[in-house]
Amino acid sequence: MKANIVLLPGDGIGPEIVLQGQRVLDAIATKFNHQFTYQSCLIGGIAIDQTGDPLPQPTIDACLASDAVLLGAVGGPKWDDPSAKTRPEVGLLKIRKELGLFANLRPIQTFPELVGASPLRREIVEGTDILFFRELTGGIYFGPSGRETIDGVEHAMATMVYSVPEVERVVRLAAEAARGRDGRLTSVDKANVLEPSRLWRQVAERVVREEFPDVKYDVVLVDAMAMHLISRPKDFDVVVTSNMFGDILTDEASMLPGSLGMLPSASIGADGPGLYEPIHGSAPDIAGKGIANPLATILACAMLLRHSLKLEDEAAAIEAAVRKVLAAGHRTPDIAAGEASIGTEAMGDEVLKVLA
Ligand code: NAD
Ligand code: IPM
Ligand code: MN
Repeated sequence: MKANIVLLPGDGIGPEIVLQGQRVLDAIATKFNHQFTYQSCLIGGIAIDQTGDPLPQPTIDACLASDAVLLGAVGGPKWDDPSAKTRPEVGLLKIRKELGLFANLRPIQTFPELVGASPLRREIVEGTDILFFRELTGGIYFGPSGRETIDGVEHAMATMVYSVPEVERVVRLAAEAARGRDGRLTSVDKANVLEPSRLWRQVAERVVREEFPDVKYDVVLVDAMAMHLISRPKDFDVVVTSNMFGDILTDEASMLPGSLGMLPSASIGADGPGLYEPIHGSAPDIAGKGIANPLATILACAMLLRHSLKLEDEAAAIEAAVRKVLAAGHRTPDIAAGEASIGTEAMGDEVLKVLA
């Protein structure tokens, strides 16, 4: 098949890891006889530097016209001035909104070969397999916000807003996914305190009761979830939650497989191209050193093939290759647990060798 893929390398380690993702996609194209064409576009800090805008219009147009988008990461200390006119992260939020990507799928799987990389005990993490659905275009990230001086005192606000349809659509996707897995769905909220969480809980319960009576459903408050996630991760199958709770819980969950550098994600909407990215950021502390773990991005490429291009065998080939590379003992420093390690490109090479 022919596919037109937009690459958004972004900042920090973004370009280093996206390059490895592209090499893997190329290897898949060769192996399975596809034709992938790439267009690299600006987003984030590099886009601010070159155009003044973290998401220039040509990037939006290219993404809208593409079959799928692969993103590295945005942001870094260079653009962190709190009084700056704009920020790299604005570009990422805006592309999610422009493409209507309301659901962010974040699978948390522990690789048997990597249980030693987790700071948690083997018997806790082994066999974990959770699929998070993080709502991605609503909530506190997108509600009314700003600053105001009241009686000479500066105030800042960000407002959490959810509408019924916004909750319905992401809960539906999550419940459908649960049907195809172990049939269990957990909704995470803060309904004991927050009004939008109370709406979330009502809507989620109704959608599951009316449309997915076969799905085993429960509700957990977000603060308790932060604890359950690392004390009994195997009890969870599919988890659905709001934008900010999902952001925080999945970074926490990265300690189950052992590193942020292992976790991919897929952002999808009702139609149109999906956007695929690692869940981690631009890792300024290791940028340019050639040691970033490219596996999250490579696994995001597998999600791209599966969800946007419907190439299941090709996606499975990448996932199997990653498992083989880990089984052979290849590690970047973040998952090496003190043992010998290799760099970003060498890890990409190992995946390519298995795919060849
Ligand atoms: P981060 O995810 O960039 O890094 C957190 C820690 O994890 C760092 O120690 C980093 O070295 C490590 N890490 C992350 N990815 C790794 C990889 N692939 N291999 C090895 N180690 C890895 O989070 P941060 O430091 O809080 O944020 C840095 C910048 O990234 C900020 O500007 C933030 O806004 C941005 N950010 C962007 C995205 C995105 O583009 N999707 C996501 C999160 C953070
Ligand atoms: C993520 C990041 C982003 C988010 C930031 C950089 C806007 O943390 O993709 O998880 O909070 O969604
Ligand atoms: Mn995040």
